[in-house]
Amino acid sequence: ATEAQYEFVKVTTPRPGVGMIELHRPKALNALFTPLIADLNRALKSLDSSPTINAIVLTGSHKAFAAGADIKEMAPKSFADAYGADFIESWSELPNLIKKPVLAAVNGHALGGGAELAMMADVLYCSAGANFGQPEIKLGVIPGAGGSQRLTRAIGKSRAMELILTGRNFSGKEAGEWGLAARVFESPEECVQGALDAAETIAGYSRIAVKAAKEAVNKSQDLGIREGVEYERRIFHGLFGSEDQKIGMKAFAEKKKPEWVHR
Ligand code: CAA
Repeated sequence: ATEAQYEFVKVTTPRPGVGMIELHRPKALNALFTPLIADLNRALKSLDSSPTINAIVLTGSHKAFAAGADIKEMAPKSFADAYGADFIESWSELPNLIKKPVLAAVNGHALGGGAELAMMADVLYCSAGANFGQPEIKLGVIPGAGGSQRLTRAIGKSRAMELILTGRNFSGKEAGEWGLAARVFESPEECVQGALDAAETIAGYSRIAVKAAKEAVNKSQDLGIREGVEYERRIFHGLFGSEDQKIGMKAFAEKKKPEWVHR
């Protein structure tokens, strides 16, 4: 799909094998309204099925990754509207359908649904000055896109509870110290470049192995340790049926660079 097909995201391929999606609704600080989520879902699915893309970077602007769900869109909704349309369910395509790794590069505001979207990514990078928060309590609601679950798993119950109950914002620096972010960069530019570097590295490996690794790590979020380890071992066994396992191990023995079949 080309950029012209999207109104609220920009899709580019800045590095070999790497697709980048930039949220682009600058006037509303990338507030996540339905048309933007529709564009995001389409862009993600298009990159996920592209034969030339192996990893995806998701970012916003330097000012805002996303300032949350669109409060103006939500304000008039009744319970029947929200429940009837299963409001926010359409956001679950990123964590549930996308098989290739998604790295979020978070700069500026990542509030409410913006923080939740960032946490749906497989890897979260941010700049030290990023402004995270789950301020929903201030609006008379609670996080609705997974914040109470993903933030709690990422940083522990006491910290997540404090943040969700007080609605206080936290910095990218804190996100790094608590392990919510895998890496923290000095500047937004370095954050995006860092995400692209990591994505390019990932894109250089066997696509089958990369997908399998993502699947196995994500299972740890749903399964107990025993089932999780068994699940991992089954996938590991399965990879002995892939050509890339032969290619990778032979290349090691011959001290050569592997030329993957599944790229
Ligand atoms: N929804 C709709 N519009 C938003 C928005 C949002 N979440 N966040 C910002 N905007 C709009 C503003 O209304 C403003 O539009 P106008 O120029 O038409 O007035 C424009 O973006 C620029 O915003 P500000 O003038 O407020 O910019 P600022 O730099 O002074 O402040 C901010 C930035 C601190 C992020 C502030 O905009 C803000 O607090 N935004 C709301 C953050 C929030 O509460 N997010 C959680 C939403 S609830 C949610 O996400 C539910 C869920 O769990 C899924």
